[in-house]
Order: sequence, then structure tokens, then C-alpha cells
Amino acid sequence: MSIPFPGEYRLERLQKSHPRRGFDCGQGLVNDWVRTKALQHQEKRLSVTKVLIDSTDLLAGFYTLATGQIDFGDLPTELVRQLPRRALPVAVLAWLGVHRSLHGQGLGDRLLASSLRDCYDAGQTFAFVAVILDCVDDAAKSYYTRWDFSELPGNPYRLFLSASTLAAMMQSSKG
Ligand SMILES: CC(C)(COP(=O)(O)OP(=O)(O)OC[C@H]1O[C@@H](n2cnc3c(N)ncnc32)[C@H](O)[C@@H]1OP(=O)(O)O)[C@@H](O)C(=O)NCCC(=O)NCCS
Repeated sequence: MSIPFPGEYRLERLQKSHPRRGFDCGQGLVNDWVRTKALQHQEKRLSVTKVLIDSTDLLAGFYTLATGQIDFGDLPTELVRQLPRRALPVAVLAWLGVHRSLHGQGLGDRLLASSLRDCYDAGQTFAFVAVILDCVDDAAKSYYTRWDFSELPGNPYRLFLSASTLAAMMQSSKG
């Protein structure tokens, strides 16, 4: 089940033809990622970026997902109870942004919901123990903690959402 966007938008896997050079979400690192790096990383199969395109072909927003590993000791004890003491698989929400002209219209939340739905769907085939992300700044952190993301011990800008919490979110959004 995909996350609905208003009718003028379409969500697509990033392609060379998408107009990413003019993207401006107000955060330089995020702009730089989608303008200059996201496509290269996708071509190298390091990450996948999905872009939200409006009816005028503006790149309205995007998110990037990747896979990763996290050391057993970097996760909270309640999450790793009964797990093996080794590097553990995680899904990584690497980047998310909405064009600054469109902030405050609910697109960020829809993109985040869509990214988590993609993680959940992928997790039916490729298991992971949590979704993790690195906050680019305090504003991003305050945004993500509105959703059920929590700080990882000893790393206040790295947040996680356990796979079981993700599953509960997805189950409840079905009903
Ligand atoms: C963070 C970002 C994606 C939010 O996009 P958006 O489309 O404006 O978000 P929405 O309109 O869906 O906002 C949904 C809710 O989040 C709240 N919100 C938005 N930004 C917030 C922030 N920085 N801190 C706390 N809450 C925030 C909104 O007030 C809204 O709350 P409401 O539902 O109670 O009204 C956007 O501000 C952005 O692109 N920022 C720069 C890039 C960035 O920081 N990306 C994240 C790190 S990679």
C-alpha cells in the first residue's frame, strides 16, 4: 500500500532527467546531496532516491534510503536483548527534504511515511533490526522526534526506530 500524495504530485525513482539542480530545501548539505550526489550513489547501488515531482516538473521533495550495519553495542539494551553480539543489519533513512517554497503543506510527513513504508515492505524480504538516521541539524532532530524516532545511546544526532515499532506503525495505519 503506497502513501497517497495530492493529485498534482508523482513519486518516482530518481532519474537523470529529473530537475534536481534547482532544488532548495533551505539546508545546504541536503541540497548538495540531491543536486550532485544522489544519482551517482544510486548508479553505484549504494542508495535509492525517490523524488516527488509536481505538475510543473518542479522537484518538490525527495528521500534517500540505504542499507547498513550497526554494532550490537551501539543499540539500546532493550532492543538487542537476545540478539547476537555482532554487527546487525539496519535500514538507513539517509536524506529527506522538501522544497522550501512548499514547506508546511504536509509533504515532509508524507515523504517520511512513504520512506518508512518502503522500509517496512523491504523488511518483509530483507530483515533489519531498526531504521536509523543521522540528523543534519537540530531542526531535523526536532522534526524526526515527532515521529517515534529515539536517540541512540551516546549519539544524540543518530536516531533509531525499531523494526517492531515500525511494524506496529504500519499495522495501525492500515486500519
Ligand atoms: C524537515 C522538512 C522535511 C519538513 O518538511 P515539511 O513539508 O515542511 O513538513 P510538513 O509540512 O509535513 O510538517 C509536518 C509537521 O512537522 C512540523 N515540522 C516541520 N518542520 C519541523 C521541525 N524542524 N521541527 C519540528 N516540527 C517540524 C510541522 O509544523 C507539522 O506539524 P503539524 O502537523 O503539527 O502542523 C523540511 O523542513 C526540510 O526539507 N528541511 C530541510 C532539510 C532537512 O532538514 N531534512 C532532514 C534531514 S536529512
